[in-house]
Amino acid sequence: MKINKMLGTAVALTALAITMPAFADENAELVINGEIPIVTKTAAPAHLEGALDEIMSGWVFRSDETQAMEMDDFDNPAMLFVEEAMVAFETPMGSEGKSCADCHDGPESLANVRPTYPKWNDAKEQVYNIQMQVNDCLTERMGAEKEKYDSQLMKNYLALLASVARGTPVNVAIDGPAQPMWEKGKEMYYTRYGQLELSCASCHEQNYGNWIRADHLSQGQVNGFPVYRLKDTKLTSAQGRFKGCVRDTRAETFKPGSEEFLALELYVASRGNGLSVEGPSVRN
Ligand code: HEC
Ligand code: HEC
Repeated sequence: MKINKMLGTAVALTALAITMPAFADENAELVINGEIPIVTKTAAPAHLEGALDEIMSGWVFRSDETQAMEMDDFDNPAMLFVEEAMVAFETPMGSEGKSCADCHDGPESLANVRPTYPKWNDAKEQVYNIQMQVNDCLTERMGAEKEKYDSQLMKNYLALLASVARGTPVNVAIDGPAQPMWEKGKEMYYTRYGQLELSCASCHEQNYGNWIRADHLSQGQVNGFPVYRLKDTKLTSAQGRFKGCVRDTRAETFKPGSEEFLALELYVASRGNGLSVEGPSVRN
């Protein structure tokens, strides 16, 4: 027993000594505001067996400067949108004269939302992402107009709901009634699209860590969404990002808000089960 334990430790130490230098520049740790530790690398969930051993946040692959912007809310440009959403949360909208805050006891009371969505909605008998849920509250409970899928206000709400869940592990259910949708998303993930005949997996599973043009390829995880992209100085939703990636394969893209992208969002989210919610994050 004792000998086994010592041997185990020795093996672990050797393994560390060998692998650490190789990953030296990818070994930074993310702690936000000096107080919220973020899991940016962890063992892959069981459903990824044979595909990936370890899952990693996109943060790991960014430059030192971009990484640093996410370590402090004062340096994170996305936090401005969180502040805007906080104001909107308390502002009455629609014919009922109600604000989100009238029914929800502050955004913190919704901290369990970002880690678990997309998820099955029993009443509506379909998989829901956060946008769909917020639109139900707007239209059915507030008498307000539905927000466009990628409207600024909608993305601001996404940023707010992510910010109150930072540090919590992503925990998206893949069994039960959501399973057929998950299977559909999985199939899409491995389908080769476009003239380039590339699947999501071609880049984000088989080639993460490599460079493509001037970009360091990540695993294409969505735990950091919504992300603030320095390149276009605005927030991007997960499905907005998928659209860009599909377009890069020179394929006709699906629309954000489509059934296809919802299935893909559910599946990709589940590939990050165990990573911390990290959004709103900063990417190039
Ligand atoms: C009149 C009351 C009311 C207002 C106003 C309201 N909601 Fe809701 N909201 C609810 C109820 C009730 C539920 C839970 C029932 C359900 O799942 O449909 C809910 C559910 C949610 C959920 C999902 C919670 C979960 O645990 O899955 C989110 C996210 C949410 N609301 C966001 C908002 C936002 C953002 C606003 C303002 C734009 C808002 N709501 C305004 C009543 C309200
Ligand atoms: C030709 C290669 C390529 C393909 C195919 C591709 N992507 Fe990407 N993707 C990229 C590059 C490059 C980036 C930017 C660097 C990074 O984060 O990996 C990116 C970024 C992402 C991100 C942002 C990750 C983050 O943390 O900011 C997500 C999510 C993503 N891709 C999902 C997908 C999905 C889903 C598919 C399949 C529909 C897909 N990608 C197909 C190249 C690709």
